[in-house]
Amino acid sequence: MSRLDSFIRRLEAQRALINWAVTAFGENSGLALEVGLGNGRTYDHLREKLPGWRIVAFDRANNANPRSVPPPGDLILGEFADNLPAFARSHPGAAKLIHADAGLGDPEANARQVANLSNWLPPLAASGAIILSDQKLDHEALQPRVPPVEIPANRYFVYVRA
Ligand SMILES: C[S@@+](CC[C@H](N)C(=O)[O-])C[C@H]1O[C@@H](n2cnc3c(N)ncnc32)[C@H](O)[C@@H]1O
Repeated sequence: MSRLDSFIRRLEAQRALINWAVTAFGENSGLALEVGLGNGRTYDHLREKLPGWRIVAFDRANNANPRSVPPPGDLILGEFADNLPAFARSHPGAAKLIHADAGLGDPEANARQVANLSNWLPPLAASGAIILSDQKLDHEALQPRVPPVEIPANRYFVYVRA
């Protein structure tokens, strides 16, 4: 598969799963986390689909499109290693939805990142929270779910926080 096809499939999976996840919440307010702001495309989609929610984004640097930069206080810049555990200490179990899109090109670095995220995300998530991830996570508190919408196999992963 070409990289273009792979990229398009990733974006389609992100959109399908975010669109599904936001319908899972009856509430019109809550906390969602965007782990890896990047260009801000998925942040922008979350923001559009979750009016009234606070959406906090994490990245080591702000490279987002100017139209997709979170408001002051909702963009936390720096390493996940510092900021995800710190946010979990200040907002334990507060997020109802977490979207993590932070895969790395280098397989070894990616494996370390995945292992770390597997440990950093559960303390951030409320019981019953939905976690969408571009990488397969592994933690006893993260219960895998078959993606409830049609996406390419192993392209995106869905978990519910126990
Ligand atoms: C694929 S991009 C996210 C794209 C985003 N979903 C979008 O729609 O534009 C991943 C982002 O994660 C950030 N990132 C990856 N590892 C990180 C780490 N350990 N600490 C902080 N940021 C990290 C990168 O800087 C990058 O901007």
